Amino acid sequence: MNQNIPLNLYTVNRPLLGTVIESRRLTPDSRGPKNDVRHITFRFEEKLPYLPGQSAGIIVPGTDSRTGKPHKLRLYSIASVGAGDLGDHQTVSLCVVRHFWDNAATGEKGIPGLASSYLCDLKPKDQATMTGPVGRHFLLPEDFKKRDLIFTATGTGIAPYRGMLRELFETGYEGHVALYFGVQYRDVALYDDEFGAIQKRHPNFSYYKAISREETNPNPNEVPTRDNKMYVQALMYVHRDELKKSFEKPDTMIYLCGLKGMEAGIFPVLEQIGAELGEKESFVAKLKSRQQLRIEVY
Ligand code: A2P
Repeated sequence: MNQNIPLNLYTVNRPLLGTVIESRRLTPDSRGPKNDVRHITFRFEEKLPYLPGQSAGIIVPGTDSRTGKPHKLRLYSIASVGAGDLGDHQTVSLCVVRHFWDNAATGEKGIPGLASSYLCDLKPKDQATMTGPVGRHFLLPEDFKKRDLIFTATGTGIAPYRGMLRELFETGYEGHVALYFGVQYRDVALYDDEFGAIQKRHPNFSYYKAISREETNPNPNEVPTRDNKMYVQALMYVHRDELKKSFEKPDTMIYLCGLKGMEAGIFPVLEQIGAELGEKESFVAKLKSRQQLRIEVY
């Protein structure tokens, strides 16, 4: 792995002040507040080194009314390449969905999440206090140039791959990378135009979408999904011959980012691929032990 990982350059006690230069909704307004996902870019007075796959902390102003203490730090995956969207190493972009939660104790439903509302309501010229970068696990390997890579994401779990894909294709990547992206509807596929443009330019990038509420899982007996919806794991199963070709190579890496439930869905597909490749023991365990499986779920 990368030996020079920038870590904790800014902390709660020594934070970094960022100015919002862009907050762009990535989904149609017609999808309403629950599908409000924003690409938010912060600019700093100084350079902030980071790697795609790392996270930044956000300090929400004010105090927690229950504890009287400052709000806990929230971490968000960075959605930009190391040089940042402007290419000057002085910006960080985040991909944030407006979150709502239900309070089981009071029965109150649809309560706006504190940090995501704060971030989604920020306007250009607003300032925010940030920390980071953090994370040394969900990174591209240093020797990625010829390795095959499989990226799987649900929803805003797409964030790290946006930066990673730019990193790959801006530095002469020669392997094959496949992105499996699970979204509810076709028109909420985040950064769809960007990924489509990369695919047009680079035949070694395959971009696949699993559109859960518009498509049906063609193999519900082999890969069960809720209400037979098309989930990433169901699409990976359809493509298992192509995935097998990548996993025949000993250094292929697979990344999972998004909803916690992805793991339980994707692991059996990986085990099946392993079995078809002649693995006698757990393929997932092997990939994990060889650092070829990276997971960031929440
Ligand atoms: P769905 O919500 O139709 O059940 P979200 O927008 O909530 O982050 O979800 C992103 C996508 O992940 C949606 O298509 C969602 O489907 C899908 N999804 C939900 N649960 C799982 C799971 N256990 N495994 C894989 N995908 C899932």
